[in-house]
Amino acid sequence: MDPLRNPFAPGAGTPPPELSGRAALLQRAAMALGRVQNGKAEKGLVLVGLRGVGKTVLLNEIRRHADRLGLHTCLVEAHEAKSLPALLIPHLRRALLALDRMDAISTQVKRALRVLKSFMTGVRAKIGEVEITLDIDSEIGAADSGDLEADLPELMVAIGRAAAARNTALALFIDEIQYFSPNELSALIMAMHRTAQDGLPIILFAAGLPQLIGLFGNAKSYAERLFDFPAIGALDEHDAAAALTKPAAAEAVYFEASALGYIYEQSRGYPFFLQEWGYHVWNTAAVSPITLGDTKAATEIAMRRLDEGFFRVRFDRLTPREKKYLWAMAALGAGPHRSGDVAKRLAKKSSDFGPLRDGLIGKGMIYAPAHGDIAFTVPLFDQFMHRIMPHEVT
Ligand SMILES: Nc1ncnc2c1ncn2[C@@H]1O[C@H](COP(=O)(O)OP(=O)(O)OP(=O)(O)O)[C@@H](O)[C@H]1O
Ligand SMILES: [Mg+2]
Repeated sequence: MDPLRNPFAPGAGTPPPELSGRAALLQRAAMALGRVQNGKAEKGLVLVGLRGVGKTVLLNEIRRHADRLGLHTCLVEAHEAKSLPALLIPHLRRALLALDRMDAISTQVKRALRVLKSFMTGVRAKIGEVEITLDIDSEIGAADSGDLEADLPELMVAIGRAAAARNTALALFIDEIQYFSPNELSALIMAMHRTAQDGLPIILFAAGLPQLIGLFGNAKSYAERLFDFPAIGALDEHDAAAALTKPAAAEAVYFEASALGYIYEQSRGYPFFLQEWGYHVWNTAAVSPITLGDTKAATEIAMRRLDEGFFRVRFDRLTPREKKYLWAMAALGAGPHRSGDVAKRLAKKSSDFGPLRDGLIGKGMIYAPAHGDIAFTVPLFDQFMHRIMPHEVT
């Protein structure tokens, strides 16, 4: 069918043509935003899920809703190479300058800008990577100790007061939050704890891989009372079908039931895979309705594309030892597995692989669903390993 009309959108953070199966979560987020805007206390939401389940898409959608409600929003994406202050400062600066432009002069907003300036001095002394300038005097002695766990809460309180003085709220969005260092995560949680205690209108929405639950707990035991951690996963068969049929129907294209069943079986309902299959089956089929035969032909293309892209880019970042370890995991099946069993397969003790496992968790390849267990963060990665074996891992 005409590729120009193909509605499907495999990608990273690409809005799907139909955001299927997430209505309850979006409603919950909308309620939280509405309450914070009304000056009510509300827990932040930390979306937890594997690669490609649609966390970024959800964060973006919630942010759009916050913007529509008239809240001030900042969205940052954490990554391995940049510190939390360096990521956050430009966004907080922009939000404060926007607050500063509203209505009459506000002493709270001016103060928050000065505190931000001194915060920048404190962290610049420490990490030397903050380039932004701010044309205001700093608030000497506020948030400038260079100790992030002391300074970030102080800064966020000043910003919360500024937002409250403007009768508005700030919604902070952080994607890939598992990449923050323990110290940064701890400072962030402490900052949200302080603003919650003071009843200030700041709310955090974050997303990341499953290991973040443990990271939050280790950073601060009260984290679980400040945030909810909704699990974002694969879609059930009904929602997976809707993700395919609704966008197609808008173009007067239909699926035979057997075709839908086959795609569900292959994709296991994972959103990214659904988009990938939808995209290729659309281009493969000559006419509507899309048949089982079309779907089987498209599956070959979709798999090849995934192997060359989605799976391959992750595999290529691994060292030979890491590849071998993941192969041992894949050889045991989809998982989760006991890390002792993986070690046994490699004729070693579990403790021999401690640093290697930590490295793989740091790279976002695996996580520990329970103590002593490990699993892939990339859905169906075990099958990919089987397809490329034995020639690539020896
Ligand atoms: N609810 C949904 N229904 C249908 N498709 C979806 C849904 N959510 C996301 N998608 C599609 O899935 C793909 C992956 O989405 P997204 O990038 O948000 O995932 P992610 O969880 O952030 O992945 P990662 O952990 O790799 O960052 C995109 O192509 C998106 O269009
Ligand atoms: Mg994402």
